Amino acid sequence: MRKIILDCDPGHDDAVAIMLAGLHEDIELLGITTVSGNSYLENTTRNALIISEMSGIDVEVYPGASKPILREQIVAHDIHGYSGLEGADLPNPKKAASNIHAVDFMSDVVKENFGEVTIVATGPLTNVALFALKYPDLVKGIKELVFMGGGIAFGNVTPVAEFNIYVDPEAADIVLRMDIPKVMAPLDMTHQAAITREEVQKLKDSESKVLNVVADLMNFFMKTYKNVFGIEGAPLHDPTTIAYLIDPEIFEWEDLNVSVELKGEFTYGQTVADIWKTTGKEPNVRVLEKINRDKFFDLLLDTLLKLS
Ligand code: RIB
Ligand code: CA
Repeated sequence: MRKIILDCDPGHDDAVAIMLAGLHEDIELLGITTVSGNSYLENTTRNALIISEMSGIDVEVYPGASKPILREQIVAHDIHGYSGLEGADLPNPKKAASNIHAVDFMSDVVKENFGEVTIVATGPLTNVALFALKYPDLVKGIKELVFMGGGIAFGNVTPVAEFNIYVDPEAADIVLRMDIPKVMAPLDMTHQAAITREEVQKLKDSESKVLNVVADLMNFFMKTYKNVFGIEGAPLHDPTTIAYLIDPEIFEWEDLNVSVELKGEFTYGQTVADIWKTTGKEPNVRVLEKINRDKFFDLLLDTLLKLS
């Protein structure tokens, strides 16, 4: 059983990550922390409440940073809609988010589970960076950090920068310098895990009203990916991080040195991976390079379809 905190910016693919983490028996979801990213903090927090409640996942939601550390705020309403989770008829959340800040929640959990808790980040890394700055002595108490972010061969919000990193490159730089085991799920791998119409239809055909709603969300997500990127199918970026914790065997990886560009006119926010070891720098992160997409979707759908 892996104890995790899921730090996220729901977001359609974050929503699926919440469900996989909350419903799979091998994961103990200790709490959800939210960050501004796909939409504003109040929206990502509301969406985390909606998805967890709708899925019967009994977990608290702890709001975190509403802005990046330094750069101006950007959001992804072109992909996720203004609310951050457009495309379905969603219930209003019944409960409120916690009044404990995400970073303080992280510190409480790490103190109580020193060396045993994994932080999974599927949005911009602002909360994780703020945790490292506010609680430097607790950083070594994190068992592992698994984050969706970055692109080795390409970006998605600029030619070379991926959204989660580009929203807060300074935070990503701080996080990549954290001296703990880190695993990165970049676009190069997550784009191998695009959901198909047939897989969405399995959710639509389910007896579960919750899964019918998820199918509507996935159809919206597929539509925006087609409109913005011309891509058939929508990459389920974020749940690949949870799948790694459940079954790492479905991935291939390489330990690499990765840096974040903070000064480039054309390359700000790029994750620069030293594939050919030209810098002489030690690897600082495990980079997931391949995923067995059929085994991933078998795992994901088997877990979700248990919902009645
Ligand atoms: O670039 C993809 C990432 O940005 C995903 O985490 C998606 O949810 C958005 O946050
Ligand atoms: Ca996300």
